Amino acid sequence: MIDYLQKLLGQTGLAPHGVCLLWDPALIWTHVIADAAIGLAYFSIPFAMAVFLTKRPDIRFRAVAWLFVAFIIACGATHFLSIWTLWNPDYGPEALVKLVTAVVSVATAVMLWPLLPQALALPSPEMLQRANEDLMLRVAERDAALDALQAANATRDHAEAMLAQAQRMEALGQLTGGIAHDFNNLLTIVVANVDRARRFGSDNPRIVGALDAAQSGADRAARLTDQLLSFARRQPLQPETHDLNAIVEDSMALFGRTLDPSIRLRVELASDLWPVRIDQGQCENAVLNLIVNARDAMPDGGTLTIRTANVEGEAAVELQIIDTGTGMPPDVVARAFEPFFTTKATGRGSGLGLSQVYGFASQSGGEVDIISTPEAGTTVSLRLPGAEQLQETT
Ligand SMILES: Nc1ncnc2c1ncn2[C@@H]1O[C@H](COP(=O)(O)OP(=O)(O)O)[C@@H](O)[C@H]1O
Ligand SMILES: [Mg+2]
Repeated sequence: MIDYLQKLLGQTGLAPHGVCLLWDPALIWTHVIADAAIGLAYFSIPFAMAVFLTKRPDIRFRAVAWLFVAFIIACGATHFLSIWTLWNPDYGPEALVKLVTAVVSVATAVMLWPLLPQALALPSPEMLQRANEDLMLRVAERDAALDALQAANATRDHAEAMLAQAQRMEALGQLTGGIAHDFNNLLTIVVANVDRARRFGSDNPRIVGALDAAQSGADRAARLTDQLLSFARRQPLQPETHDLNAIVEDSMALFGRTLDPSIRLRVELASDLWPVRIDQGQCENAVLNLIVNARDAMPDGGTLTIRTANVEGEAAVELQIIDTGTGMPPDVVARAFEPFFTTKATGRGSGLGLSQVYGFASQSGGEVDIISTPEAGTTVSLRLPGAEQLQETT
């Protein structure tokens, strides 16, 4: 091997290639220029490829790509050597460079063919683009489905919460109504016997005082059972056809003057309000309870709006009491209609105001709901069926 190399590199006495071309300047320089241009191009192409390969680690078939780089450099070298041998007869080194080029090019060719099916299977940029668009479409579809699912879940949760609330109020109503009813019967015995004792007559002021105290306690108990019965929808109502606006105006006349001047009053009554069939006394109570609550919620003043309107789609009449007061957090809203639920100090709140409103609304075939935002205010909406609508359904 060493001998072979020594022989190859040590050759002397050979003629430079230019001799074969008879030193014809046209031939010589055309060869020189063409070989130089090819050589330069062959050196520049692998340089660009090498830069590309190092910057893009994701590129596949890297081994073959690097072989390409080596192969093109070797080809470039052979062209520069062709220029050199025009004047210098170094055919041994030229043969060696050609040999290296041959090895690299054969290796490249051998490695390239088996890769062809894989390279053909690679998706084109257009295919990738289409797949991408398809994917985006599916993502959008999935997002929409997810949104719909969330909305459906929210609706279901809301319906479940409403049902649970209605069931709780129903159970509370039955319990309260049962107790109040029995208690009322017992109260009748107490009142009748206080009356009887009075009729026996006594000049003893201590006996009279005791009877008076018993009487006033029994009266208070009777009022309490009344309120409980109205929550339990067991209050004997005397429904008559009324103008809700007139009832509101009466209540305002009764109560408006006692409102703190820091509370601005806005009364917005619909002029063409449909008549409603309700118990006047209970309705006045309900309006007063709502106004008292609104006033209590605005210790530092605010605006109290009382609004009536027809609800077209439902043939109902709506009364709204809106305040700009303290509002209620959701857990208070959830319990506000319960009898005896109060957040007010003992002696200030009985917790029976909204339960009366609730009982009155349901017993009249209507409904009541609260929308409240802490620190912003509360809107209580009382809906009562229009008198004509009620007649149609009964
Ligand atoms: N307009 C309102 N603004 C803020 N909170 C209210 C309002 N109305 C009712 N509430 C809340 O609901 C609770 C129950 O009201 P209610 O049944 O009238 O009882 P009471 O007024 O005796 O406390 C109140 O204690 C209060 O916490
Ligand atoms: Mg109240």
